[in-house]
Amino acid sequence: MPAPELVDTFGRFHDNLRISVTDRCNIRCFYCMPETEVEFVPRAEVLSFEEIERFARIAARLGVKKLRLTGGEPLLRKDLPVLVKKLSAIDGIEDLAMTTNGVTLASHAQALYDAGLRRINIHLDTLDRERFREITRRDDFHHVMEGIHACLRIGYGPIKINAVAVKDLVEPDIVPLARFGREHGIEVRYIEFMPLDAQGLWLRNKVLLQSEMLEMLAEGIGPLDEIPPQDVRAPATEYHFRDGIGRVGFISSVSRPFCLNCNRLRITADGKLRYCLFAIEETDVKTALRDGSSEEQIVELIRSTVARKWIGHEINTTQFVPPPRPMYSIGG
Ligand code: 5AD
Ligand code: SF4
Repeated sequence: MPAPELVDTFGRFHDNLRISVTDRCNIRCFYCMPETEVEFVPRAEVLSFEEIERFARIAARLGVKKLRLTGGEPLLRKDLPVLVKKLSAIDGIEDLAMTTNGVTLASHAQALYDAGLRRINIHLDTLDRERFREITRRDDFHHVMEGIHACLRIGYGPIKINAVAVKDLVEPDIVPLARFGREHGIEVRYIEFMPLDAQGLWLRNKVLLQSEMLEMLAEGIGPLDEIPPQDVRAPATEYHFRDGIGRVGFISSVSRPFCLNCNRLRITADGKLRYCLFAIEETDVKTALRDGSSEEQIVELIRSTVARKWIGHEINTTQFVPPPRPMYSIGG
């Protein structure tokens, strides 16, 4: 077995793998999905739990320590607790988390917890039912709230809320979300709107910036101080409120790109390995997982993908080309 580290040509060490378990979703957030005529990967093309587990084991031998399940909406994948159990038992995996839209979370939270899941990010942009409907084109606000409360009751921790920050839309939500987080011990992470939507709606002037949100929070709640990062490679910049109650985070891919510290790889539901959310190219691992390829051959696919990793996305340049797949089909 070769040396374990997955280091790219810029010296970045990869120990974090995001696994998309399905590209299907039960809501239709406009910054991710088209409203109608969504094309999903045919079921036969989606990796089985056994294939995902094998791939994760090989990645773990190469130094991957953190896994996150994403989608689409991961809870649409049947029997997800079975996968959680398999993945959390892998040698070398220290951390397993999931990102969900929360719509069906209330009925799955206990089984997932029992299977070993502890860390959960729930996607919620607003506490206003009407705006939720406007953003997601579905009326599921109350279901998401039930999911969040179920996780609080069961004892998940940390629980985080992911809120996508779109200008001229969610300004009224920034402060109420942070208040809600402070009340319940949940960190709200504001994610600057990224050019990953399916309909090409992204415009630079549609991004609500970290600096603007910080101002709203300081004015609406009180002063905040930046928390020195525990792990410099974590994409979020975090702040705590000076009164000692709660914290918020920002994932500011547009105003503060964090590519230089990136430690992530992603595998799509149909088994394509990606070195970047914004990558144009991807490596087909599904074929290797299905044609009897050896572990060494799969190791080589992972290494060569890491070796080709670029320095980072170019959102802030005129050369920026959005990736050919929108968010739901890459896995956030
Ligand atoms: N810009 C920023 N964040 C997005 N997400 C989905 N689409 C976008 C986008 N265009 C976020 C959602 C989800 C996470 C996986 O990615 O909040 O929680
Ligand atoms: Fe990493 Fe790509 Fe995201 Fe940059 S854009 S932080 S390289 S995943």
